[in-house]
Amino acid sequence: MALVTTTEMFKKAYEGGYAVGAFNVNNMEIIQGIVGAAAELKSPLILQVSAGARKYANPTYLKKLVEAAVIEAGDIPIALHLDHGEDFEICKACIDSGFTSVMIDGSKHSFEENIRLTKQVVDYAHAHGCVVEGELGKLAGIEDDVNVSAEDASYTNPAEVEEFVKRTGVDSLAIAIGTSHGAFKFKPGQKPQLRFDILEEIERRIPGFPIVLHGASSVSQEYVKEIQQYGGNLADAIGIPEEMLRQAASSAVCKINIDSDLRLAFTAGIRNVLSNNPAVFDPRSYLKVGRENIKTLVSHKIKEVLGSEGQA
Ligand code: G3H
Ligand code: 13P
Ligand code: ZN
Repeated sequence: MALVTTTEMFKKAYEGGYAVGAFNVNNMEIIQGIVGAAAELKSPLILQVSAGARKYANPTYLKKLVEAAVIEAGDIPIALHLDHGEDFEICKACIDSGFTSVMIDGSKHSFEENIRLTKQVVDYAHAHGCVVEGELGKLAGIEDDVNVSAEDASYTNPAEVEEFVKRTGVDSLAIAIGTSHGAFKFKPGQKPQLRFDILEEIERRIPGFPIVLHGASSVSQEYVKEIQQYGGNLADAIGIPEEMLRQAASSAVCKINIDSDLRLAFTAGIRNVLSNNPAVFDPRSYLKVGRENIKTLVSHKIKEVLGSEGQA
């Protein structure tokens, strides 16, 4: 199956009460691990590429790796999505190179500027068969060079969503209800909490419209402890509890973004091999373990968190 847009995926996910996982990709092994899991479990899939990933791997390499994955995956629907596009130019570059979905992240701008920029991207994308995710509300955490402090983060205002969706023509909307990017999502001692009341109010105002949740890694304590054991400081790392993500997936949330969990799983596999076998120097011997860890993690997410198994 060729790359698809998220339109059909989201319609089915909304009606079926599950969500599609959007996983960040940076290299071949990560792509293979994710796609291997989705293909085996017959799950729809979104592979997403950030500006940082494009800088790291080079856009052509990433695009070609994803094309190879699509061939290998057989008949599951896969969308290729730009994560956190910050301006029209990067969105256009991705649309022109065949991405089926882009995010224009205008959340740092004023409401009016966010609408202007998002609409500009929507007009271009729709004319080229591509769909667009917009964002209203600011998540805390770090993406590339943008660091939004917890104080500057703000929940999405439900009163703004209808106007935003209507005036921009976006196809899906990322909202802020208490998730954040990275491994430190809540203050030490703070009980993880998401504003499901805001999500419900948004769903009431734009029924049937697909909602996106960023910053949705769960940050497994298994990996946190392991990093501590090697002297790293992740003592205060805390993610989104899986039962909250399951609740979100069964609602209007149709896309759940996961990156930090992939980073932890991939690195843990490699770290284990290298620390147990210090003389190893064949990259394949440790990268394949990172890849297996990614596959195990994504299988778990599909089956136990997203509910997208068998929905391809
Ligand atoms: O939300 C951001 C993603 O985790 C991508 O991170 O910008 O460091 O590639 P990155
Ligand atoms: P995490 O850092 O929680 O994995 O979030 C990733 C994300 O939102 C990518 O856009
Ligand atoms: Zn994000």
